[in-house]
Amino acid sequence: MRVRVSSKGATRLLAHHPWVYRSDVLEGPDQPGLYPVVSSRGVMGLALYNPNSEISVRVFSFKDAGRPQEVLLENLRQALRRRKEAIAQEPQGAFRLVHAEGDLVPALILDYYAGHGVMQVGSAALEPLTPELVQVIRAEIPLQSLLAKNEQKTRSLEGLPLEVKPLLGPVPDTVMVREGSIVYRVDLMGGQKTGAFIDQRDNRIRLQAYRGETALDVFSYHGSFALHLARNFKQVTAVDSSAAALQRAGENAQANGLSNITFREANAFEFLREEERRKAQYDLIVLDPPAFAKGRRDIERAYAAYKEINLRAMKLLPSGGLLATASCSHHLSEPLFYQMLAEAASDAHRTVRVVEKRGQGWDHPVLLNVPETQYLKFALLEIL
Ligand SMILES: C[S@@+](CC[C@H](N)C(=O)[O-])C[C@H]1O[C@@H](n2cnc3c(N)ncnc32)[C@H](O)[C@@H]1O
Repeated sequence: MRVRVSSKGATRLLAHHPWVYRSDVLEGPDQPGLYPVVSSRGVMGLALYNPNSEISVRVFSFKDAGRPQEVLLENLRQALRRRKEAIAQEPQGAFRLVHAEGDLVPALILDYYAGHGVMQVGSAALEPLTPELVQVIRAEIPLQSLLAKNEQKTRSLEGLPLEVKPLLGPVPDTVMVREGSIVYRVDLMGGQKTGAFIDQRDNRIRLQAYRGETALDVFSYHGSFALHLARNFKQVTAVDSSAAALQRAGENAQANGLSNITFREANAFEFLREEERRKAQYDLIVLDPPAFAKGRRDIERAYAAYKEINLRAMKLLPSGGLLATASCSHHLSEPLFYQMLAEAASDAHRTVRVVEKRGQGWDHPVLLNVPETQYLKFALLEIL
């Protein structure tokens, strides 16, 4: 059984983009599964296929050789092996072990938290292979527990149930992980995403190079950037709209012996407006919002929202102040992100220097021909 795609679908695959939309599938099996993909040009590769999904074809090999399941499991094995050295060096750390398309294992996310794994499966073609995936994971990475946290809304589009269930060992509710010179507690069961935002790990550690009087961490989640900043800034304010995240942020501050963080449960837009009104100033501000653009349709509205928070933050920084600002929405491309920042600087009447352009950590690999894998933009800016 094979999946036959149109010439438009084949053109995408020839450019090494792994997705073919349902409208470009000419014929295929009735059941989701792993199949070779063909076009009038011959065999194009091996793919996860779900006839009921908008993205019907997700290629994991652009070669026509091998049995699909074995090739996919080998891709998984290779992804895990690329992380082994980092885990050996910091077994109590947090790392992304599998970054879906970026690791040629489409629709699979697997994160490591100090010996505990959390995975998310996002394809009806992959779900039945869960036992085989777990077997490979166990053979490569020492894990005390593994949780399937399959709550992503996109699962409904695949016809999959939303559920959380242990796959290995008794899964603890929370786990303490180490990140550079700090520790923080991850809520595996109840936290956002798989429990933490590992993609910003290296950016958080990077900010430990700075010191000053006051720092502001907006969209702080469980205190992530604030904990690092509190080592070198006299007073840090952490803002988030989630009471549960801030509760853990407080506990995380305690676990690190830090008493110089103030926690504010607030809507970031209102908070920044209020800070501007009272002419507050900070030496360093972090902006790490959720993805404002969930789809292409949202870009205009999202652009305005990103611009608003960045413009306000720029007004709260004195000359010499630093703005560390991010967008995790892949719909907002890197050029658009920097255009938005330039407009914000212009509207705020500030001259702004780009100190460093950064992105997601090394364990969230990017495929050059798959822009969707390069989603996190992180700019370190200095107000002149
Ligand atoms: C990308 S996460 C931040 C991750 C965090 N900076 C870290 O490094 O772990 C976005 C955070 O924004 C919070 N959030 C979402 N909308 C918000 C709003 N309007 N105002 C304040 N916080 C918001 C969420 O609760 C979440 O913690």
